[in-house]
Amino acid sequence: MMNPKVEAAINKQIQKEEFSSRLYLAMAIWCEVKGYPGASAFLYRHADEERMHQMKFVHYVNERGGKAQLFDQEQPADEFNSLQELFEQVLDHEEYITASINKLYELTFDEKDFTTANFLQWFITEQLEEESLMRTILDKIRLVGTDKAGMFHIDKELETMSAGAANPA
Ligand code: FEO
Repeated sequence: MMNPKVEAAINKQIQKEEFSSRLYLAMAIWCEVKGYPGASAFLYRHADEERMHQMKFVHYVNERGGKAQLFDQEQPADEFNSLQELFEQVLDHEEYITASINKLYELTFDEKDFTTANFLQWFITEQLEEESLMRTILDKIRLVGTDKAGMFHIDKELETMSAGAANPA
């Protein structure tokens, strides 16, 4: 039997991971129609990763004898003034998710649910990597500013990143 407080908190996290997937999907669509094919491919792929995070939590709750729950979702933002603004929002969102995972981790200690604490280690590492990746991308975008050639190169780079390693984020 799962600790009910931990189960409820993970179900909230399931909602957040699902929202992340929808947010990055909306962002990928924006990039695709605005002529950033590389950023778009990167974000489509990232949307899939968030879905994978969601499913990891779903299976965990069910395997522990709980029941994963789905909630309504807010409409994600789908209009942006620039690619820079979009990636600023990605980083903000990842920082929010990191804080949420950290709170969940704290709860598992309060509740002495060390099995879940152990399970969350993967997500803690994942958040560290995701934040660092998004910060790197944002730094590059900020560096080129409105330079079209520079932006073209960043977009190409994002395309390579999305086609690259099995788990770049
Ligand atoms: Fe599921 Fe990007 O954190």
